[in-house]
Amino acid sequence: TAMMKKPAGLLGFDAITINRFDSITVPAGYRTQVFLPWGTPLTADAPDYRADASHTADEQAKQVGMHHDGMHFFPIDVKQGGQSSNEGLLVMNHEYVDPNVLHPFGGKGLPRVAEEVHKELAAHGVSVAHIKKQSNGEWQLVRDSHLNRRITGSTPMELTGPVRGHDKVVTRYSPDGTRTRGTLNNCSHGVTPWGTYLTCEENWALLFVNHDQNMPREHRRYSIADEHSILHWETAGRSDDQISRFNATPAGTAAVEDYRNEPNNFGWIVEIDPFNPDHTPVKHTAMGRFAHEGIIFAKAEAGKPLVAYSGDDARFEYIYKFVSAGLYDPATAGPHLLDEGTLYVARFNDDGSGEWLPLDFHNDAFQAKAQAAGVVFSDQADVLINTRLAADLLGATKMDRPEWGAVHPETNEVYFTLTNNSRRHTTDAANPRANNHSGHIIRWREADQHAFNWDIFLLSGDAYTYTPHHNAMLSEQNHHASPDGLWFDPNGLLWIQTDMSGSQMRSGPFGNNQMLVADVSNHNIKRFLVGPVDCEVTGVVMTPDCKTMFVNIQHPGEGSGPFSFSSTWPDRGTKRPRSATVVITKDDGGIIGS
Ligand code: FEO
Ligand code: CA
Ligand code: CA
Ligand code: CA
Repeated sequence: TAMMKKPAGLLGFDAITINRFDSITVPAGYRTQVFLPWGTPLTADAPDYRADASHTADEQAKQVGMHHDGMHFFPIDVKQGGQSSNEGLLVMNHEYVDPNVLHPFGGKGLPRVAEEVHKELAAHGVSVAHIKKQSNGEWQLVRDSHLNRRITGSTPMELTGPVRGHDKVVTRYSPDGTRTRGTLNNCSHGVTPWGTYLTCEENWALLFVNHDQNMPREHRRYSIADEHSILHWETAGRSDDQISRFNATPAGTAAVEDYRNEPNNFGWIVEIDPFNPDHTPVKHTAMGRFAHEGIIFAKAEAGKPLVAYSGDDARFEYIYKFVSAGLYDPATAGPHLLDEGTLYVARFNDDGSGEWLPLDFHNDAFQAKAQAAGVVFSDQADVLINTRLAADLLGATKMDRPEWGAVHPETNEVYFTLTNNSRRHTTDAANPRANNHSGHIIRWREADQHAFNWDIFLLSGDAYTYTPHHNAMLSEQNHHASPDGLWFDPNGLLWIQTDMSGSQMRSGPFGNNQMLVADVSNHNIKRFLVGPVDCEVTGVVMTPDCKTMFVNIQHPGEGSGPFSFSSTWPDRGTKRPRSATVVITKDDGGIIGS
C-alpha cells in the first residue's frame, strides 16, 4: 500500500496542562462550539428544550437523547462517492440516563412512575442529525431535514443471523423470535464499509431483573440482577407491555406468554442506515452477545472476508474478532456479510504471540472443550446467545475491561484500550499490573486468520509511568488514566479519550477527563482537550478534510443533583448540566492535531 502523505506540522500544538475547570480547554489556536446538547429539538415537529426538564416522554423521543457517546460523521454525498466536509449526518449514541438530570426534580422514587420510565427509554438510543456548516464557520442542525431521526429504547427492530427465530428469543411481542424493541446502553459504535452505522449494546444487563431462583445461564453469566434492576423499571407495573418486559421472571407457562427471553434480545450489534429514515434497525447476531463496547473494522479488501473486532467491557472479559463467510466486494457489500461468519475470541500468550479461538458449534476442538466441561449447546445460535460461556471454555485471556479499538489506516495494526481493573490480583503479560487503576493500551498485528503478534503500546498512569519495550515515559504533558475512547484519524494520529471515575478525578493527579493525541511511531503524546467537571470525554470523529472535529462530552456533573449539580456546563448559572457534542476547529482553518 502507498505511504500516506502526512500533512506537515502534526502534533505542532502546545500540550495543555491538566485542570479541574467546569469548561472545555483546548490548545492555543483552537476554538470550540457546543453543539446538539441533550434535549435539542431534532425532528421538525420537536418542541424546544426547556431548562426545567419538563418534557414528556413523547417530546424526548423527538429531541437529542442523553449521555452522548460513540459518533460518526457521514458526508452527505458519501453514497455518491463524495467527501463533503461542509454537510453530513452526525450519528451518535446515547449511552444511559441520569434521572437526576432527566426529570425536573429527579425521579419520583419507588414504585417508578410509568411516564418517567418511558422518558428514560426515549432518552436512550441513537440520534441521526443532518448538519451543515454555515458561512461564519459555525455548524447548525438542518431542522426541517427528513433525515433527522431518533432511535430509542422502544423502536421496533429485526433480528438477523443465526439467532433469528431461535427458541430463546421468542417473546410475547415476537412469537416467531424475529423482532424486538429498542436498543439500550449504546456505548461505542462502528461504521460498515457500505456506509451504515453500527450501534453497540453494552450495559443492557443492568436494566433487567429476573427473580427466578434458577436463572438461566444466558442471564446469570451476564450478571442480570435477581433483586432489582438498576433503574427499577420493573416496579412501574405489569400492565404496560413496554415496561413490564424488563422483568424477565417467567410469569406464564411458556416463553410466548412472558418476557423470560427479553434479555436475550439485547447484547447485540445493531445496524442503522442513517440515509433511510424508514429503515428498520437490524440486530446482527453472528457477532456475538456480550457487553459490546464498540466494533471496529479492519480495512476492507476486495476478494477477502470482512474482519471486525469488538471488546466485552467488564472485568476479566474478552476481545473478539468476527470474520465474514462472504468475501468483500464493494459493488455488492451489505448487511448479509454480517450475518454469516466465524466469531473468534483472543488468547494473548505471554511470549507475545496470540491465537484466535473459534466459537464454532461445528468445530471439533470447540465441541471437545464443551464436552470436557459438561456444557451442552443446541446449535450455533445457542453458542452466540451464550458467547461469554463459550469463550470461557476455550481458555481465552481475561482482560482488564476492553473498551474501544482502532485500526491504523496504514499498517492495519489494531489498538485496544483496557480501561482499568481494580480487582486484578493475578497478572499475565497482556494484563501486567495487579490492581490496575490506570489501564493500558494493547496492540497487535495479524499473522493470519488464526494468529497474531501483540505488545503493550502504552501503560497509562501518572507522570514517569514507563512502558517497557518502547522506552516511553509519561510526563506532565500526557499523564492520564482509564483510557476508553480510541480513534485513528485519516492522518494516522491516535486520539485517546479518558473515562476516569469521579473519585479517580478528585483524588488523582489527572484533573478532569481529557483527550490526548499520539504519534504511534515515536510515542510523542500530547494532551489536547480537558472536559468539564465530572464528565467523560468519549466519541471523536472528523470531517474528511480533517478541519472540523466532533467530540462528545458525556455526563458532566455525574453523581450530583437533582437540586444542585457539580457541573453546570454548558448552560451555566444554576442550570442543569447537559451532555453535548463539541465542534473543534482551528483559528487558521488548519488540520486538527497540527
Ligand atoms: Fe460504555 Fe465501556 O464504556
Ligand atoms: Ca466507553
Ligand atoms: Ca468506560
Ligand atoms: Ca462514564
